[in-house]
Amino acid sequence: MAVRVLSGTRATNKLHIGNLFGALENWKKFQSEEAFYMIADWHALTTEYASKMAVKDNVTEIVLDYLACGLNPDICTIFVQSHVHEHAELALMLSMITPLSWLERNPTFKDQIKEQKGKDLHTHGFLGYPVLQAADILLYQADIVPVGEDQLPHLELTREIARRFNHLYGETFKEPQAALTKIKKMPGTDGRKMSKSYNNCIYIADSDNETEKKMKNMVTDPARKRRQDKGHPEVCPVCYYQGIFNTDEVEKLKQQCREAHIGCVDCKKKCIEKVNVFLKPMRERRDYYKTRSAVVNDIVSKGAQQAQRIAAATLTKAKGAIKIL
Ligand code: TRP
Ligand code: SF4
Repeated sequence: MAVRVLSGTRATNKLHIGNLFGALENWKKFQSEEAFYMIADWHALTTEYASKMAVKDNVTEIVLDYLACGLNPDICTIFVQSHVHEHAELALMLSMITPLSWLERNPTFKDQIKEQKGKDLHTHGFLGYPVLQAADILLYQADIVPVGEDQLPHLELTREIARRFNHLYGETFKEPQAALTKIKKMPGTDGRKMSKSYNNCIYIADSDNETEKKMKNMVTDPARKRRQDKGHPEVCPVCYYQGIFNTDEVEKLKQQCREAHIGCVDCKKKCIEKVNVFLKPMRERRDYYKTRSAVVNDIVSKGAQQAQRIAAATLTKAKGAIKIL
């Protein structure tokens, strides 16, 4: 039997190459299983509730990114969280049994409050973020949840909530497992972890020129100030990219860097070209769907129907267990 797979992204920003290698590459591998890939628009509101941006515009951008990356709607289900109302309903149910202390000690809660300065995140919705995420996963009785490493605390909470529910009301939910990619932390153009809040991202939707501009300004080995200085490629984010996008040449380039036989400008030039070549088919697919909104709407509305069939059955089962039905 195929394993059931579920994952999602918050509808806050377009996908960047960190998302691609941290999670989406795995989503693609699992799409021949029974896979559900969601755009979490409710989750976007946990931090963006005061933003003037329309959440649904972000949703569309992310659907385009999913399709661009190579998710195939003929074999996997692509859907929007709020289109399947069972997510909100199960989240409410799970909130009844989730101890506050579990949510307060959630490391991502503390990190985000520090990181997203300027936003008041002392809300019920933001504290309850992992409860909603648990509902997303448990509704599908998912076996596997392919995510980035930063999501592991949420996965653990999901398992704890499932266990508590099963203990209180009888075996209802399956405990899911996380699946991580080999590439865990993609550096951004400033060398820190790639993240929208650091403004250091290379987006799938960027043009070749934008990519070039960003990468020309990318940090390199900070100790290599002059062309004749010998470099330390192992600390250089450009070299990290070479290892992903330019696997044939990376060892040679490292050697040349260590001996100061290549300068950063030339090294970057090679890297930029490879990144753009890699992203080209994705960008073309994105452009294709961007001009075909009826096709895209059809994909997510079919997706919602397919998702709801499973979600509704699980919700009925959970309501029966908790004796509300
Ligand atoms: N919290 C995830 C993120 O920030 C997004 C998400 C929402 C998710 N619901 C999910 C991921 C369910 C996996 C499964 O990327
Ligand atoms: Fe980095 Fe390349 Fe410069 Fe070496 S030559 S420091 S690997 S950009």
